[in-house]
Amino acid sequence: MKKIIIAIDGFSSCGKSTMAKDLAKAIGYIYIDSGAMYRAVTLYCIEHHLFDTNGGIDEDVLKQKLSDISIRFQTDPESKRSITYLNGVNVEERIRMLDVSSLVSPIAALRSVRETLVRLQKEMGKEKGIVMDGRDIGTEVFPYAELKIFVTASSDIRAKRRFDELRAKGQTVNLEEIKQNIEERDRIDQTREISPLRKADDAVLLDNSYLSIEEQKKWLIEQYKKAANA
Ligand code: DC
Repeated sequence: MKKIIIAIDGFSSCGKSTMAKDLAKAIGYIYIDSGAMYRAVTLYCIEHHLFDTNGGIDEDVLKQKLSDISIRFQTDPESKRSITYLNGVNVEERIRMLDVSSLVSPIAALRSVRETLVRLQKEMGKEKGIVMDGRDIGTEVFPYAELKIFVTASSDIRAKRRFDELRAKGQTVNLEEIKQNIEERDRIDQTREISPLRKADDAVLLDNSYLSIEEQKKWLIEQYKKAANA
């Protein structure tokens, strides 16, 4: 079977990361969560007080700081989970918190941020054998990926999944607030000027609203086999 690139795009909280992670593990590929990179830049902006009180940001100021931001992924030897490091610090949990989620979309809409992160992502895919999930992986980062999947699910179901996930981590969360956050991110992601979220023409559509994790896994492996044997 040939080594390929697998691009998984779709709406937020569709379980893209879980599915991409599981698939990568099952087939021995590297997994890269591109959303974590946008989240890490957002956390950097929070920590360096770059947001104004309305959540706005001066792109020129951030642009000058981009070279100070180092984002790395490392697999935890015990849990085998991929951990995101921002300037050497493990931020895997921190970047999933609601303040980062609320501020990440405007950061991901900035041209300078996208150019920097897309360059890094392309570099990561040079050797193939990679599963990357995000919003523009099949359209911008790897337009020639051998397998592209576009994932969707209803916003109610997505909000409930995120709610359960955050609650399980002990965070106090509000379902309605999460749903609003998801819908607002969908709106910004789809309408932004640069690399808006859209299905690539040659991507396979997956609506996982009513699929179990196991059914989804089976479906993904079938898609992978088809693409890698083609
Ligand atoms: O997948 P996620 O929720 O962790 O993504 C966080 C944000 O980053 C989300 O608002 C969309 C944005 N994003 C993006 O614009 N392009 C990507 N390739 C990945 C994420």
